[in-house]
Amino acid sequence: MKGLILAGGLGKRLRPLTHTGPKQLIPIANKPVLHYIVEDIAEAGIVDIGVVVGYTAERINSIKESLGDGSKWGVRITYIEQDAPRGLAHAVWISKGFIGNDDFVVYLGDNILKEGIVRFVEEFEKGRADVSLLISKHQHPEKFGIVEINGDEVIGVEEKPVNPKSDYVITGVYIFQNSVFGYIDGLKPSGRGELELTHVVQKVIESKKHSVVCHKVSGWWDDAGTADDVLRANHVILSDTARNIMGRIETGAVVTGNVELGKNSTIKSGAVVRGPVIIGENCVIGEGAYIGPYTSIGDNTIIENGEIDSCIIMGDSKINLGGKKMVDSLMGRRVTVSCRHSIPKGYKFIVGEDSEISV
Ligand code: TTP
Repeated sequence: MKGLILAGGLGKRLRPLTHTGPKQLIPIANKPVLHYIVEDIAEAGIVDIGVVVGYTAERINSIKESLGDGSKWGVRITYIEQDAPRGLAHAVWISKGFIGNDDFVVYLGDNILKEGIVRFVEEFEKGRADVSLLISKHQHPEKFGIVEINGDEVIGVEEKPVNPKSDYVITGVYIFQNSVFGYIDGLKPSGRGELELTHVVQKVIESKKHSVVCHKVSGWWDDAGTADDVLRANHVILSDTARNIMGRIETGAVVTGNVELGKNSTIKSGAVVRGPVIIGENCVIGEGAYIGPYTSIGDNTIIENGEIDSCIIMGDSKINLGGKKMVDSLMGRRVTVSCRHSIPKGYKFIVGEDSEISV
């Protein structure tokens, strides 16, 4: 069996972060989403992984630099370039040469599964269905591809229906036998101009020649497509953080709960850090800083004077909130937040397109 990670797409819902980098590299608990996915696929015993990437040299190279040849995880990675975001089924179609005659797992590059895919793959190997969908109940099925099921059998799928017939949705993980390529051939673009994987699955169901089954997610799953999703994923992953102090905690600093502190990082006297929190390498948490639970701070970051709660600070940043509090925020790399004690007092913003600010 091979693995196929779809890491193209424009990630419009995560702008402005995705103007400069692919969403699949956004760190959750200081680790890029794509790394969790490669780990899951490797853990299921799959060694040949294709990664669909695309559109700009910058995006493609950043993913290549992050994953390399896969040897870090004991796998072989092949990159497959998509010319434009023409849909999930298009991304699978252009990977035909890489897949060859094998069965394959498709894993969307913005999905996170707490329990991985080992049981899903094992169940597929036992049952040998033609298509197997990893599904989960969701409070808002209308935002996803939904599945109608009868026991383990999938009897219908529908992409983002206005009135969903089921509250089971397709997560971002599928297993296909090679026969699926016959159903992608000749597929027409949907109303939004994409080749939809749900249409492919519906065609397989309607053919009555090949079987489509489902496997229910037992643990937690998240589709990290929006800032809220990413912050929620960070919350869940940090809940399992263990205490691990590789840096320095000065006398007079208060550090409670599960805190991971990277090498060459310092929590200064007078700072307060309440876990679960992860702080990368070469960081300084200054005297007047309070870092609250469910916060991830990437490498080379200085935090001074202010409260930070349930946030992701991606790294290489300097943040001084002037004693104020920042919550539920997602900050890209190389951000400077400074505090000016000048009159008249007010907020000063220099903000790019598609930004969101709540004050
Ligand atoms: P989506 O989240 O459906 O699409 P997107 O990434 O373009 O995001 P947005 O809707 O915010 O603009 O994509 C799911 C995954 O599949 C994601 O990792 C990107 C990937 N993908 C491709 O590789 N090729 C494609 O043509 C599309 C549409 C998505």
